Amino acid sequence: MKVPFGDLKLHYQQYKTEIDQAVSRVLHSGHFILGPELEAFEKEFAALHGQGHAIGCASGTEAIYLALAACDVGPGDNVIVVAHTAVPTISAISMTGAMPVFVDIDTETYVMDVKQIEDLITLRTKAIVPVHLYGQMVDMESLLKIAAKHKLSVIEDVAQATGATYRNVIAGTLGDFGAFSFYPSKNIGAFGDGGAVFSKSKEKAQKLSMLRNYGQSKRYHHNVIGINSRFDEIQAAIMQCRLPYLKEWNERRKQIADRYTKGLANLSGLVKTPFTHPDNDHVFHLYVIQIEEREELQSYLSDKGIQALIHYPIPAHLQEAYSYLGYRKGTLPVTEHITKRILSLPMYPELSDEQIDFVINTIQNFFSERKTGLSSIKDAEIKTVMHSNSVAVTR
Ligand SMILES: Cc1ncc(COP(=O)(O)O)c(C=O)c1O
Repeated sequence: MKVPFGDLKLHYQQYKTEIDQAVSRVLHSGHFILGPELEAFEKEFAALHGQGHAIGCASGTEAIYLALAACDVGPGDNVIVVAHTAVPTISAISMTGAMPVFVDIDTETYVMDVKQIEDLITLRTKAIVPVHLYGQMVDMESLLKIAAKHKLSVIEDVAQATGATYRNVIAGTLGDFGAFSFYPSKNIGAFGDGGAVFSKSKEKAQKLSMLRNYGQSKRYHHNVIGINSRFDEIQAAIMQCRLPYLKEWNERRKQIADRYTKGLANLSGLVKTPFTHPDNDHVFHLYVIQIEEREELQSYLSDKGIQALIHYPIPAHLQEAYSYLGYRKGTLPVTEHITKRILSLPMYPELSDEQIDFVINTIQNFFSERKTGLSSIKDAEIKTVMHSNSVAVTR
């Protein structure tokens, strides 16, 4: 049996009719940029998040960049963020000219350890970017208290957590801005690149809307220095078809996570399954286990047709591109510890129960084979020792 990490072809086939109709509608309209499809999508996406405004843009990376820019983050500023994230979170900060300042993560949830933030705040600190990694949100109440006390902007990186909640509040609506990615494999993805920014504030949303379109308030009136980061009409039409399924897909992800966790329970001590904080509704963009023999298991799974990946093998503070910041190994002990042990198992709504059970059984076989392997190595060692002793005796 083959278990790929994701299967976007299968996904498209399931929704082919409505997607094809949406694409065809746009192609026949002749309107490809900033038109009625984007307007409709932005309204629906905002409605999903309660009272507020959504602005489509070209990617999750630019969603974070635009939100930071709308908060006037720029050269000379510091932005507090985790190193355990997809590097684009950090790229977006660098794009503003600001400097990322890394904070370690919580040992259980793998997201920002909010208790460590205050030690890093200086006069230069302008914003915090909590990353709701793997589908689970950061402790936002504590974070927002710190941000308010020090007058810092908060931009939530929701790329991996669309639809997740913290104390029943949906991700992306607690900070000044929520930045979303519609990269195809996300919990809700486009069929290409895309992103969006949510804000409860009309003024902030208006500024962001200018920033994503050359800084224009209206044609040829450039009020701020902006870029081109627009979400095109074809993708916006596709996303309208997809929004109604978000809840159902997230539910299926949770079921899959539950099945993995129950199936791996007898390996506790060898495999650490994900922890969901009671404040959170975790939407499992990724199902990440921790295991000492990570490389061995990954290649064992690969040999059996199962694709498991690592999110992420090198934390941002140890990436060559960020060496100029001067971080050394050992500065973020929890991040660096888990980076060597984490492994993401296949996770997407179309995964069948048979495939999940196959992954679970294969992981169990890995351990039982190792146990037998180890005991036969031990037996062989004992025999060799006995043999060499007996040789010594006979001599
Ligand atoms: C946590 C996180 N932030 C930001 C991004 C960037 O999103 P995009 O690929 O749409 O630019 C990603 C996507 O990989 C992500 O996982």
